[in-house]
Amino acid sequence: MSEVTQPNGPGVTQVQCVRGARVASVASAVPAQIVTNQDLEKRVDTTDQWIRERTGIEERRIAPPEFSAIDFAHEAAEKALARAQVSADQLDLIVVATLTPDHPFPATACLLQNKLGAKCGAFDLEAGCTGFIYALTTAAQFIQSGGCDTVLVVGVDLLSRITDWKDRTTCVLFGDGAGAAVMTACEPGDGLLAWDLGSDGAGGPLLMVPAGGSKLPITAEAVAEGKHYIAMNGREVFKFAVRIQGESAERALSRCGLTGADVDCFVPHQANLRIIDAAMKRLSIPREKVYVNVQRYGNTSGASIPIALDEAQDEGFVFPGATVVCCGFGAGLTWGSCVLRW
Ligand code: ACO
Repeated sequence: MSEVTQPNGPGVTQVQCVRGARVASVASAVPAQIVTNQDLEKRVDTTDQWIRERTGIEERRIAPPEFSAIDFAHEAAEKALARAQVSADQLDLIVVATLTPDHPFPATACLLQNKLGAKCGAFDLEAGCTGFIYALTTAAQFIQSGGCDTVLVVGVDLLSRITDWKDRTTCVLFGDGAGAAVMTACEPGDGLLAWDLGSDGAGGPLLMVPAGGSKLPITAEAVAEGKHYIAMNGREVFKFAVRIQGESAERALSRCGLTGADVDCFVPHQANLRIIDAAMKRLSIPREKVYVNVQRYGNTSGASIPIALDEAQDEGFVFPGATVVCCGFGAGLTWGSCVLRW
């Protein structure tokens, strides 16, 4: 392979790449159980109309108690490996993005390595709902540098486990699921064309789980006060998301000399239809090029983008040679975008 100069991330605008990193396959796994807006009307003071109008969500998948993150991560990973015709022992690294791991430690990536029978390094990464973009970008660096040939990237979250089902301002928004991608080496200048990652920790308190870490361990008092659940300032997160999705995608596109007009498929984090619409307008991307499935899954956090990518590919939105932009935001606050040649 020859060496090319490729635009890439921030700070380093020109890097010498001996090879690129591409998504060889993508797959997903979601619980069978569907919870509709009508089901939620029976649990909290809400209406199907309010949820649809404010978020676009109609139903979500919720995992039964006997399942945990590893089960969906494993199912999605097995499917992605089969699609890429890669066996577990060919993996050089596993990166799992999650904020609802099976345990605080060991990492869910290690549980997955064992379940798959892989013999490689494995670690979790936490960047809220932007986790999959962070994980994909991280995996690509290992491949582009020549350190790894084949990396499994998983986004998995069971937000239902950290949701207060009595809080109507959050419980209507979230769902459970997993998505996985196998990344392999490709010609330089192909695959991941550019990326943008960002964070603003000053916004951390806007979206958090207060208890369960070293600051406020889980105690009977913390649980009684509901501090082990998601606490969110929805309005402020909404304003941030509306601004950042378009900005970040625009930055990633400009780093590889492209604009919204070059995009074949835009796959945003599936949190809220109104947030997706705002990004679409900023990038001047027509509706028919934007993949949306928030109506069926709600916000599945780290799993949202790979689930959407999997379905977008199934439905022909994403095709070989397509220019695909994935873009997310989440707790941290974090945000990220990547431009992929499929
Ligand atoms: N049903 C009925 N009424 C409700 C509901 C509900 N489920 N939830 C809130 N309301 C009420 C509020 O109490 C409020 O009533 P009030 O005016 O009497 O005070 C009214 O509806 C309007 O509330 P807002 O919060 O202003 O509604 P908004 O239009 O902002 O929509 C929403 C709320 C959907 C949460 C929106 O702010 C949003 O999507 N924010 C972003 C959330 C998000 O994407 N989070 C990302 C998580 S990512 C991660 O890393 C986990």
